[in-house]
Amino acid sequence: MEINTIRNVVVVGAGTMGHAIAQVYAQHGFDVFLIDLDQKMLDHAIIMIKSNLGLLLEHNKLREEMISILNRIHISTNIEGSASNADLAIEVVNEVPEIKRRVFKQLDKFCAQDTILVSNTSGLNIFEIADVSYPQRLIIHHWFCPAYIMPSVEIAPGPSTSSEVINLSVQLMKILGKKPIVLNEFIDNFIVNRIQRVIMVQVWEMIQKGWATPEQIDYAVKTVLGVRLPVQGIVQSQDFTGLDLILDKQKEFRTNKRYPQIQELVEQGNLGVKSGKGFYNYGDRTELEVLRKRDELCLKMLDYLEQLRLFEPL
Ligand SMILES: NC(=O)c1ccc[n+]([C@@H]2O[C@H](COP(=O)([O-])OP(=O)(O)OC[C@H]3O[C@@H](n4cnc5c(N)ncnc54)[C@H](O)[C@@H]3O)[C@@H](O)[C@H]2O)c1
Repeated sequence: MEINTIRNVVVVGAGTMGHAIAQVYAQHGFDVFLIDLDQKMLDHAIIMIKSNLGLLLEHNKLREEMISILNRIHISTNIEGSASNADLAIEVVNEVPEIKRRVFKQLDKFCAQDTILVSNTSGLNIFEIADVSYPQRLIIHHWFCPAYIMPSVEIAPGPSTSSEVINLSVQLMKILGKKPIVLNEFIDNFIVNRIQRVIMVQVWEMIQKGWATPEQIDYAVKTVLGVRLPVQGIVQSQDFTGLDLILDKQKEFRTNKRYPQIQELVEQGNLGVKSGKGFYNYGDRTELEVLRKRDELCLKMLDYLEQLRLFEPL
């Protein structure tokens, strides 16, 4: 299948994510058939899409008139009629395995055999849930909310997904102006939700035990991680801390988990920024040069966040 033969997109589920994914496809010239069981959800989806497009228009982010985009979105409660013409069918229904299984059964029945089948699950193993005739055409595209703003989409292939479908998925995301992150294989919850899950375990415990208030936690996150992470990411932050220190801290942790990769790096003398190499290679730049660049970017981030008054709750 060639990328330019993908014209008709069916989006099943018109809720928080479905309406927005449908909107992004329509914004980029695709004909979209947005399906829901509930006519009220479909009507509400159109109201939301109009409001989202209005915002994008105000910020000069639309390439054409709103009306042309809206004309490419067709709503329906009839999955059969829309799925039979679909080049791409995206499941965006509730995160309940049985509901998703039923939708994929319908898509398998009504779609052509070369239709690419996509799930927007937040982390379920759709490859075990969906019983489809052509599993080589099944893939996960995990979007983030709000889908018409967030730049990345995680792409997770299953054990039978063809390389053609992975490549087409990457090309599609680029056409939509997204930055695809392709996982080597399916892992539950992918990258971002895996990280968020660990964070939330700690956050719920702090709130539950009265160690910190929600306001204190959000303030700490915004004023520390919110400044640092956009500049350094999470892994590169370890390079700035120093991998020798990270290793010492790991030894202190009350856990049996050890990560030999860090030990190996330290044994090789790769301690991070201070030695010129850690997880990242800093080439022939000196430690001072790298730290200066980090500091300049952090200062700009800080100014920008303060200017937007982002340390206050929304
Ligand atoms: N909400 C988020 O921030 C977010 C982010 C990323 C991924 N996701 C994932 O996206 C999926 C949808 O989440 P959501 O938040 O949009 O859910 P939602 O509850 O807002 O919407 C789900 C929609 O699916 C419809 N639906 C249910 N069964 C259907 C069927 N058989 N046919 C047609 N429509 C049907 C419902 O009527 C509802 O309108 C989930 O898998 C979720 O994990 C959600």
